[in-house]
Amino acid sequence: MGDASSRAGSGGKTAIAYVRSIADVRASIAVARRQPDAVVGLVPTMGAFHEGHLSLMRAARSRCSFVAVSVFVNPIQFGGTDDFNTYPRDLDRDLAMAAGAGADLLFAPPDGEMYPPGFETAVEPGSIATGLCGASRPGHFRGVATVVAKLLNIFAPDIAFFGQKDAQQAAVIRRMATDLNFDVEVSVEPIVREGDGLAMSSRNTYLEPDERTQAVALFEALSQARDAVAAGETSVARLRRQMKRKIAEHYLVDLEYVKVVDPATMEPVSAVEGPVLAAVAARVGRTRLIDNMLLLPAGGD
Ligand code: PAF
Repeated sequence: MGDASSRAGSGGKTAIAYVRSIADVRASIAVARRQPDAVVGLVPTMGAFHEGHLSLMRAARSRCSFVAVSVFVNPIQFGGTDDFNTYPRDLDRDLAMAAGAGADLLFAPPDGEMYPPGFETAVEPGSIATGLCGASRPGHFRGVATVVAKLLNIFAPDIAFFGQKDAQQAAVIRRMATDLNFDVEVSVEPIVREGDGLAMSSRNTYLEPDERTQAVALFEALSQARDAVAAGETSVARLRRQMKRKIAEHYLVDLEYVKVVDPATMEPVSAVEGPVLAAVAARVGRTRLIDNMLLLPAGGD
């Protein structure tokens, strides 16, 4: 099958197809679709796997007859000052981990396969992408929406799996799938955290030991807001002040934003009158971290 090859997983037990071309993906999906009641799942990633990625693959494995994973560090979602060149890459390790999680296929295309010469079309998300991370990373969600649209067209999955840690990304993708009539279920899986609460991220590997200790500030601020709302707090101004104060206790954490928004539209809210999303972004040393938590009002369902 073209440049497709098979490699064994870490224990040497599980085979996973490793493909680099879109033609090979399509051929593999066509074979998988021959199975009666086939359900194709796609886990789009940028690699450098951690437990968060594995939880997406396991969720896919539990619901799909064929699980595909893509690994592509998408250049068009990185801005000029972002970490595209230094973003962690370890394909052999990713292959072994994906195989261990039960994935059937891993697609790791070269840049030219996704963006051949002459490429110039993009998906432009609307207002959902302008606040939060969109404000400090212009063009980021355009790059994300474009590559995810391409991946959905390449794989035509029944279900695509994303992590709640990138809550705005998940909302942008849901909006895009609805607006552009992608025939796919967008499944958003819970954040996976380290023992102290730090949300798992490929970028956590950049943290120096003292930065790693202080990075838990994001989780602590969000947890405090969650508890305050559960205890009856409804003022978003007060919640934001409390979260800022908690983060300011950590001198290595440089806050970018703390917002409380509608979980579907990402529009800021001024009072907690139903479930809302608290979202935080901060730089810890040279590492940009994001985290979020759903705040459920007292007595809500
Ligand atoms: O969340 C990510 O890893 C990326 O933004 C995604 C969705 C794979 C698009 O490049």
